[in-house]
Amino acid sequence: MTDVPPRIGGLDVESWGDPEDPIVLLIGPAQRLFVDWRRSVRALVAAGRHVVLAAFDADADDAVGLRRLLTELPSRPALMCAAEALPVVAPALSVTGPALASCLVIAPDDARADVPTPAASIEVQSLLADLPVHVVARDQGVDPTEAENAAILGFLERHAPRDALLYQAGSDPRTLRDALGCFATGVTVVTTLDEAGQPVGLTANSFSSVSLDPPLILFCLARSSANVERFRQAAHFAINVLHIGQQPTSGVFARSGDRFQDVAWETWDTGVPILSGALASFECATDQIVEAGDHLVIIGRVTRARFEPRRDPLLYFRGKYRRLHFS
Ligand SMILES: Cc1cc2nc3c(=O)[nH]c(=O)nc-3n(C[C@H](O)[C@H](O)[C@H](O)COP(=O)(O)O)c2cc1C
Repeated sequence: MTDVPPRIGGLDVESWGDPEDPIVLLIGPAQRLFVDWRRSVRALVAAGRHVVLAAFDADADDAVGLRRLLTELPSRPALMCAAEALPVVAPALSVTGPALASCLVIAPDDARADVPTPAASIEVQSLLADLPVHVVARDQGVDPTEAENAAILGFLERHAPRDALLYQAGSDPRTLRDALGCFATGVTVVTTLDEAGQPVGLTANSFSSVSLDPPLILFCLARSSANVERFRQAAHFAINVLHIGQQPTSGVFARSGDRFQDVAWETWDTGVPILSGALASFECATDQIVEAGDHLVIIGRVTRARFEPRRDPLLYFRGKYRRLHFS
């Protein structure tokens, strides 16, 4: 996080993220706003928000001070405050509220408490008029911060989108490809053996789980693949999910050449190649092959699976490799 400590509207502010991104103004103190404020600020920044934390004290500072702060910001922010600050925040946003802020996120009184907040009171609602409001519900699940971040980011995407929405529509192949590219995937290498018992494989992102009982997975193989007959004949195959460091492997298995030369692999029960360093591997018996347009949908029954829980995945989105760190 990069600190930019200027004063705006007479208040000290700290900020994180790219100043070009839409502002989320936190009316401090941050510890009262989130279960884990550092993690939530990181999540907001990663989602393309410029987070500005104002040292605004609802007891000492008044609605006029807040209005001044809002008008001096370079763009209209999404606002987040604690429920207890509402008696000052709501009057500051009344009447011209939507002109000063795009939306309001209200955190419950006690960031750790599982109690309903009074933020939705009729009095406050009438002051906030048409301003979109999201009241954070504290989730007691396995990862409350994750649930809270997801809800806040979903609300911000709806009411304070990063860019003006610019949908493109059409029935042409380019639009179809680009629309399909909006579905982010992992990257796999699918492998089997050729008629001579030699390993073959290719990069595929069309992997999907199908069924848990029985355990079925699928991938789609282009009919134009040099390996199409091998997979059609194969009684077994394997799917290897690549980790964040295996982009070169993905490249090798998408190009022609000796693909197995520089990659460590092993065999399990059926002899098909299992990439030794993969994030996860599934050894499968071919269950069904469905002819589908210019691809085959190859469905496999998983006979053995292995995964490494501490590694991050290699991702593919809009025709590019992407990296996200989770662990
Ligand atoms: C990220 C990525 C995903 C791919 N996904 C698939 C896929 O799901 N199915 C497929 O048939 N080809 C897919 N390809 C293309 C093949 O990997 C590529 O055409 C390869 O050269 C095919 O090799 P082959 O003709 O030797 O089988 C993908 C390529 C990349 C880079």
